[in-house]
Amino acid sequence: MRMEIFFKFVFGLLIVLVSSQQPIVNQLEYPPGDTFNITCDVSRFADLRSAGELLSISLLRQLSTQTSFENIASYEPKAEKKMTTNIPIQWQVFYAGGEGINNRNTIRLVVTVVDFQCADAGLYQCQIFIPAPSHQANTTPVNITAKIGITQKDIYMTPHKKIIGEDIHSSVNTVGVEITLTCSFTGPANLQALWRRKKAGHEENYPYANNIKNSKPVFSVISGCNTYDYTSELKCTLEEKDNGTLYICVVMEDNIERSRKMFTNICSEQSTNNISPSKPGSRPDSAGSNVGTRVFGLLVVLVIIVVLIYFFVIQKNKQIESPEAYLCPVLPSGDWCGWC
Ligand SMILES: *[C@@H]1O[C@H](CO)[C@@H](O)[C@H](O)[C@H]1NC(C)=O
Ligand SMILES: *[C@@H]1O[C@H](CO)[C@@H](O)[C@H](O)[C@H]1NC(C)=O
Ligand SMILES: *[C@@H]1O[C@H](CO)[C@@H](O)[C@H](O)[C@H]1NC(C)=O
Repeated sequence: MRMEIFFKFVFGLLIVLVSSQQPIVNQLEYPPGDTFNITCDVSRFADLRSAGELLSISLLRQLSTQTSFENIASYEPKAEKKMTTNIPIQWQVFYAGGEGINNRNTIRLVVTVVDFQCADAGLYQCQIFIPAPSHQANTTPVNITAKIGITQKDIYMTPHKKIIGEDIHSSVNTVGVEITLTCSFTGPANLQALWRRKKAGHEENYPYANNIKNSKPVFSVISGCNTYDYTSELKCTLEEKDNGTLYICVVMEDNIERSRKMFTNICSEQSTNNISPSKPGSRPDSAGSNVGTRVFGLLVVLVIIVVLIYFFVIQKNKQIESPEAYLCPVLPSGDWCGWC
């Protein structure tokens, strides 16, 4: 029994010792464009034996396109040229400590990854050289990956004539009008739009697949990462029963919800074109007055035509009968004008 407790204690102590080894990065996934540190010092190594003096500390990496690790930054405190690097130009290197004989606890190398690119994703590990007895030690490689974020824009609706209260994600529309809700978002290759609707506390998938149109994702490269712009449209003719429905566009990644945006629609039976607060019953009246206006317009046109005919036909006839009456009205004598 006592032996069992003892072994448990030793085992527990081992776990504490092993887990006291610090990871060289804080996380394994970073968004493209991010800035973060990769840190190499003695606390990152599991088994350093009793090494008191270290020759160098380095950062190695192996990209997916490479077959072996490559040394990208190396700090040798006792060498004439202390630092050698082979890193992307925008990255930075900090190095410190390591002077003197027992330098293991002060030696430190920090590589700051600036504007992380998808092409920088790969395996990273730290390495040290111990002179006596001559050997090297490595940390367990970490697989650092680029995680493309998802950004979803607000849903917008056309036509969008009036909002409800202060909620900009809402619209008042007329029953019978065709509306279009547009959902757009950006992210990695494996995203899908899922339309849902909610009314009176009940949420469900939008039932009419024919009303949904997903455009082909538009491809672009951002921070060396393949990124896609998605657009999904929901088109429908508003019915009275759609009143107060909340439309939801959910961004799905491998069947997991990543993001959602919502839009409320309230149907109004009145025509939103009618500025005057007239009742629906007054519609035939306004139609009637429209007919009146048209008849009046027609009459005016007819009068103008009659007047024109009078001037052009009747006056022309008069002119043929007595041209001097038109051309020389100032000659009361009725004499023929010689200069005509
Ligand atoms: C990276 O490490 C350097 C040196 O220790 C430090 O000055 C800097 O603030 C660190 N940057 C980040 C993003 O942690
Ligand atoms: C690193 O992670 C990426 C993404 O999860 C994966 O595709 C790749 O195979 C991993 N590489 C190694 C060496 O495990
Ligand atoms: C829609 O609902 C609102 C309140 O939620 C109500 O005032 C309005 O009359 C309803 N419209 C129709 C067309 O049912």
